[in-house]
Amino acid sequence: MPRDNKTPLIQRIARQAHHAFKGFVASAIGGDDDDYTTGFAELVKLVTAVRAADLKIARRKDKPGPGPDAAGPPVTYMHICETEAFSMGVFLLRRGASIPLHDHPGMNGVLKVLYGKVTIRCFDRLEHDGGDLPEFDPPLPPATPSGCPRRSVLRAVGEYSETSGPCLLTPQRDNIHQIDALDGPAAFLDILAPPYDPEDGRDCHYYKVLRRAGAGGTEGGKPAELQHQEEEVQKEAEMWLLEVPQPEDFLCGGEPYPGPAVSV
Ligand SMILES: [Fe+2]
Repeated sequence: MPRDNKTPLIQRIARQAHHAFKGFVASAIGGDDDDYTTGFAELVKLVTAVRAADLKIARRKDKPGPGPDAAGPPVTYMHICETEAFSMGVFLLRRGASIPLHDHPGMNGVLKVLYGKVTIRCFDRLEHDGGDLPEFDPPLPPATPSGCPRRSVLRAVGEYSETSGPCLLTPQRDNIHQIDALDGPAAFLDILAPPYDPEDGRDCHYYKVLRRAGAGGTEGGKPAELQHQEEEVQKEAEMWLLEVPQPEDFLCGGEPYPGPAVSV
């Protein structure tokens, strides 16, 4: 790929994402494919350098006054581009907004904060050992329509800002995550590869963390510091996730992407 510094960074990122992921086969990831490893490393380098100004995105006001920005959904998405290899866009979160726990089946992800700060909690699914389910509090209804709880592990809890490197997920690792705006509005670039495609088994599912009877949990309602301490203890410990419908309070609107044109 030519090193053309006059090409907008977001265009170079798009080309590199397409190049890196075009031959992606979910079952082969994590292998010794040198081409993939080199292409992906170059993508991470480019994404690490991207800032809101490269996409002509202005930091959203924390407390918008009257006007078009005064109301609207807590989360919005700017679509930038999509090929058969990847999709790319920007999520913008208002203060206190959250993208609830969800997955990316068979997909890779590269998430880079453009402004503000977010907390990202990543879970991995574990093989079920075939034993009895533990007791939960509150108990599960007798017939849970969306299936059995999934044995999982809280793999990572991290804070990311515009100076952080990207948060990465693969089909096997950190694939289920929740993203919360921290201390104000935030925005992040989101690259998914391959893109969601329900007809090809890549639909988005939502989850909630079940609380074990007699144990703590990561559910909200606690002071942030206390919750953080509990999560440090719970990291790598067995947890149980239940698939749920998309939470009713999660509203994601759309808005136009204001940055340089991107074509792949
Ligand atoms: Fe996600």
